[in-house]
Amino acid sequence: MAFPKNFLWGGAVAAHQLEGGWDQGGKGISVADVMTGGDAHTLREITDGVLPGKNYPNHEAIDFYHHYKEDIALFAEMGFKCFRTSIAWTRIFPNGDDETPNEEGLKFYDDMFDEMKKHGIEPIITLCHFELPLNLVNKYGGFRNRKCIDFFVKFAVTCFERYKNKVKYWLTFNEINNQGRNIDAAFAPFTALTNSGIKYAEGENRRKVMYQAAHNEFVASAKAVIEGHKINPDFQIGCMIQMTPYYPETCNPDDQIKSLKEMDSIFFFADAQVRGHYSNYIKKYWELNDLAPQIEDGDLEIMQQGKVDYFTFSYYMSGAVSADPAKNDSENGGITSGVKNPYLKSSDWGWPIDPVGLRYTLNIIAERYDDIPMMIVENGIGLHETEKDIDHDDSRIEYFQNHIAEMKKAIEIDGVNLIAYCPWGCIDLVSASTGEMDKRYGFIYVDKNNAGEGDLHRAKKKSFYWYKKVIESNGEDLSN
Ligand code: BG6
Repeated sequence: MAFPKNFLWGGAVAAHQLEGGWDQGGKGISVADVMTGGDAHTLREITDGVLPGKNYPNHEAIDFYHHYKEDIALFAEMGFKCFRTSIAWTRIFPNGDDETPNEEGLKFYDDMFDEMKKHGIEPIITLCHFELPLNLVNKYGGFRNRKCIDFFVKFAVTCFERYKNKVKYWLTFNEINNQGRNIDAAFAPFTALTNSGIKYAEGENRRKVMYQAAHNEFVASAKAVIEGHKINPDFQIGCMIQMTPYYPETCNPDDQIKSLKEMDSIFFFADAQVRGHYSNYIKKYWELNDLAPQIEDGDLEIMQQGKVDYFTFSYYMSGAVSADPAKNDSENGGITSGVKNPYLKSSDWGWPIDPVGLRYTLNIIAERYDDIPMMIVENGIGLHETEKDIDHDDSRIEYFQNHIAEMKKAIEIDGVNLIAYCPWGCIDLVSASTGEMDKRYGFIYVDKNNAGEGDLHRAKKKSFYWYKKVIESNGEDLSN
């Protein structure tokens, strides 16, 4: 059997994309609450506060806040061993800088974790998944300000103390490297806000701001790791990286150097958290481009002491790049820039589909970080579906068949240390990049569309039964 006996099969979501209840239970306003609905061709608008008459899809989302028992029962029926979600920061500290936490928010997650435990489901919890309190943006400028380090650590410690006997696996910042992507593109203000609570000022050096915010987040993450281990030495606290391997367009050595540099721009975020230091490649880059962040006394020691225990990542696609800048004009759905890879098909949102790239990714992480334990905490495909389609979502099944087959090879042939697999959006939810409901990832259909219509009832798709069988057979039976 390829997969270890205790392999964690499950699914993944994030609080702001499914909970709803945006102003209930004492919750404050997060950055996700001021983003309107968009689509594949229309960017989400970031409004100045919550404005009347706008469509904010995260406000209700799929109302997991009131449906979590029913939804967790469905996950249990599929056989989930684990479930990855996040704790909405604004349920615990509504403004981010509050003196004391909101008991009603803490209680909500207590109940949710108890419900998971009842079904034998292990929680995997992200602390900051695109959910910063809006107050931290408006009052402090988000993570460009070092004060956010303390606010984050206070939030993390509050959660660690409260749930120390209920949660073992923690992740600090979701897809921390998104903010470094396509920084001059139209999409960049969105990732700056969601990752770091940053609003770029007109004409400012975005890269400089981004590296400062990233440095502050590395210190915050490392401090959380140090404090977490004091609270419960059994805690496993990981980083979370969006892994998009970049291939060279050709075997021209210049293309190879270009792809190496693209990979550096991802690994910079992982190296800081896994190796706990800045390597020469990034220090040189900062020096040559005058981009070095301000590093205070003690920061580097904290980063070294607060190295993560394991590596988690999302994997949706690969990219390809050319040394000729004029050729790198394909935007792959706004997420990566580069050349089009003629060997791959893309999803309806332009995301290239590359199962072999997942095996490749598992290998490069394992080799770079000495066989570190890994979790794939996001993978999946968004599809246009209506309820009529739920009995034949074969393209979703095919997507997972191919990706799981490559995971298997990575374990059986390459010996990687993979401990969990959590397909993204195991239940239909609000898309992060577009704000759509109609970009559906789920094994479970939710009756709601982009216009907000629908009664929110849940229905099992064909892939629900397929994934159940995969879990039952511990990944041996992938047949449709
Ligand atoms: C990742 C995020 O970027 O990809 C998730 O961590 C997000 O929050 C997922 O939902 C899929 O992206 P999208 O834009 O299709 O929702």
